[in-house]
Amino acid sequence: MSALTIAMPKGRIFNEAIEMLRSAGYDLPEDFDLSRKLLAKAPAENMTFILAKPSDVPVYVEHGVADVGIAGKDVLLEENRNVYEVLDLLISRCHLSVAGLPGATPDLFAPKIATKYPRIASEFFREQGEQVEIIKLNGSIELAPMVGLAERIVDIVSTGRTLKENGLVEMQHIRDITSRLIVNPVSYRLKDDAIRHLTERLKTVVEKEGS
Ligand code: PRP
Repeated sequence: MSALTIAMPKGRIFNEAIEMLRSAGYDLPEDFDLSRKLLAKAPAENMTFILAKPSDVPVYVEHGVADVGIAGKDVLLEENRNVYEVLDLLISRCHLSVAGLPGATPDLFAPKIATKYPRIASEFFREQGEQVEIIKLNGSIELAPMVGLAERIVDIVSTGRTLKENGLVEMQHIRDITSRLIVNPVSYRLKDDAIRHLTERLKTVVEKEGS
């Protein structure tokens, strides 16, 4: 079976993704979850793992440095990379929403929207027929309406705790998000055996956990 390099997202998806691989029977190093290493090997499985920032996972996969990767649908929509999305892992469920301060009157002239997702936000408001100015931020998006940088935000809502603790409310649901298994198009052909095997094993776990 061909060796595989897998790009994994650090942070909130990581633990669920590792757990899923272990449930699929992969023998991963014990200290994998705790280590700060950015490159790790699972020799028993002929696998190498790249631990990347979630939004960079599709970049590693598109460039073929990683054969496969695990990435949130939010990141895939925003990055719009040339990768194949082969399986919905149904993990790290959350949704993308428009949120803001309750009762705030939108600036009708050029409403400002702060977000980590400028592509998704632009498309959403274009479809809604609303002209907005998008302000790109890299994190702590909820701060923007509180300090007057933007009236509304487009961001991920998971437990809803960040919005609640900062006095914000959801205004529009954009779409549900889950994590996906993605594949480099060249690897898909050249390492067909190993990729098919990985996909089938993960699919079995998805189906078992969903039933
Ligand atoms: C994400 C997102 C929200 C928060 C939502 O941020 O941007 O801020 O999580 O989660 P919750 O609904 O469970 O509170 P993340 O923690 O990834 O960090 P960031 O603010 O740096 O983007």
